[in-house]
Amino acid sequence: LLKAACVASVALVPSVAAAACDEGEVVIKFSHVTNTDKHPKGIAATLLEQRVNDEMNGKACMEVFANSTLYNDDKVLEAMLQGDVQLAAPSLSKFETFTKQFRLFDLPFMFKDIDAVDGFQNSETGQAMKDSMQKRGLQGLAFWHNGMKQMSASKPLLSPEDANGLKFRVQPSDVLVAQMEAIGGSPQKMAFSEVYGALQQGVVDGQENTWSNIFGKKFFEVQDGITETNHGILDYLVVASVDWLDGLDADVRDQLLTILAEVTETRNAEAFAANEQAKANIEAAGGVIRQLDAEQRQAWVDAMKPVWAKFEGDVGADNIAAAQKFNE
Ligand code: LMR
Repeated sequence: LLKAACVASVALVPSVAAAACDEGEVVIKFSHVTNTDKHPKGIAATLLEQRVNDEMNGKACMEVFANSTLYNDDKVLEAMLQGDVQLAAPSLSKFETFTKQFRLFDLPFMFKDIDAVDGFQNSETGQAMKDSMQKRGLQGLAFWHNGMKQMSASKPLLSPEDANGLKFRVQPSDVLVAQMEAIGGSPQKMAFSEVYGALQQGVVDGQENTWSNIFGKKFFEVQDGITETNHGILDYLVVASVDWLDGLDADVRDQLLTILAEVTETRNAEAFAANEQAKANIEAAGGVIRQLDAEQRQAWVDAMKPVWAKFEGDVGADNIAAAQKFNE
């Protein structure tokens, strides 16, 4: 099916869109939770959809469901194992029930920037992590970048003490719970689609996320300001079920994975710029961004980094050492 028809059907009735694919085409539903426009994951997913529908017409038909319109990240992996969705790219913080290895990525101040993350993910250790959930029926296909996380709240956050007693939304990761507790915050796990409303209504006082998510979902509108902490990363794993992949004809699987690898390389190289643009957009829209001087930033490091010790057993001291090499 050519892209135009696919997109039109998605816009109308997502649940029956598959019917618009040509007979004999492998239907690939890709569910994710962010916006599509100006977002590292949104752009990558749309590019993947375009290329699959152009280059694999007659063999495969991809439909992207963005903005949690099909599933929240807490449901999508179960749905994938049931065969109801074929691709997803949840953040690495959302695989807790499948593997503890990805906790490494959530440890605060583990990576100094997205280039260090990229280097580690492309190392032998990083690549092996994509296979860590095979026994649970999931195959990691590619790491997609978003970027570094920033802290926001209903009051200025300059020292970690400013976070004392505040309620913070976190992704469903015990590392992130421990991180917020380390700064005296009260963490609450919550789906991405609920964050804006929770901030607006004061169900939570603050959150951490990338510039592209803070801009894409307008969190800055319902926060006092955002502090540029770059204290952690938010990245994704494009994932499929082992059974579904095994069931594909070899030529279809190879072509799909080749396109995915090319899209990954192209879009990962642009992720940093997409976040910088989102940061500029927040400022242009009147959002307040606060910087930390070296001493202030060190106070956040000192407060959060003790969390590493608690999770060293889950992620492995050798993996931590391997990751740290990419900060040099
Ligand atoms: C979040 O829940 O904050 C993020 O994982 C959303 C996303 O997919 O970037």
